[in-house]
Amino acid sequence: MTQVFLHPEMADYFVEYSFTDALGPEGRAVGQRIVDDYTEEKLILLRSLRFDADLSFLRQVVFYQKWKFKKLATSRFETVPDSQRARDPEIAEFVTDVFGGDWGRFGYFMEQVHRINDQVRRTLDTVFAGYRFQTRDVIWRFTETRVENLHFDVDRGCDNLELIRLYVNLDDIPRIWYTSGTFTATAQQHYQALNLARFRDQPTDALLLELSKKVLGGWTNRGRESAPKHLVLFEPGDVWLSDGRAVSHQVVYGRRVVSSLFIASRDGVPDVTKTFAHRLAELHAREGAPPPEPRTAHSPAERARPLQGKQITDLRASWEELSEQQRQNTIVRL
Ligand SMILES: [Fe+2]
Repeated sequence: MTQVFLHPEMADYFVEYSFTDALGPEGRAVGQRIVDDYTEEKLILLRSLRFDADLSFLRQVVFYQKWKFKKLATSRFETVPDSQRARDPEIAEFVTDVFGGDWGRFGYFMEQVHRINDQVRRTLDTVFAGYRFQTRDVIWRFTETRVENLHFDVDRGCDNLELIRLYVNLDDIPRIWYTSGTFTATAQQHYQALNLARFRDQPTDALLLELSKKVLGGWTNRGRESAPKHLVLFEPGDVWLSDGRAVSHQVVYGRRVVSSLFIASRDGVPDVTKTFAHRLAELHAREGAPPPEPRTAHSPAERARPLQGKQITDLRASWEELSEQQRQNTIVRL
């Protein structure tokens, strides 16, 4: 179960799917719906995935709290043959810092890395069938993260790239996020006041940084943001998909998450209308065309309109009284 404390003035953009449905007879259609939701700036919980790895072992692994281990690209470690690992300076440093020089434990760790990374790759290749990815990295974030600032991801040099980010909470405690406005809703709402038309010919990350600073509060205001936010507790084992450029977010606390960074160029995307670059161009065409009409469609009440068909779960029952099914497979809206 994933607990979501919804802010009443924010759109409810949380959806969930069973991954087994993406493998069934209607699998392609289900996969397409997930892709559509991803590109329509939703946060997607992906259920029914069980990771076949020694989680008890992994939950005892503590990354040395070092900046370079914050986002460890284990997919690079995977490319180094066993026999050459000791000669790789980055791996040798990692084994010294994290495993006290115990190469046997590191070897066992890498077995678990292979298992989980393979499953992450298979999952994304199934859902995003038809995409041609130029990068299929899997990043392990096992250092402790506390109170990031609320932000849109600022990815330099990615203007014409699609970035697919899937997360797996491997820890035995929840990973706690706040999420705030989506890119399109936020940029639209503040387009005129922030004169965002001036970013039309600038790299996309400049616009995302402007929104993060001016609307969401920036690094120095972290923990004290005034922007409306949903609070989300991703439970152990939860898997979710969210484009960090499309859904603003903030890790409040977390350890031991695995995340993907799959990258496709515009040529590798089956439908170019389902790209961040396309949505950005549409935004400028729509909002940057003078004269601006007075806007009424994005009042807080409008943005708060919930998605159709969502059930509000009554959580007056205590956590312990919930069935295993409710704990594992449900977004609980509070
Ligand atoms: Fe981020």
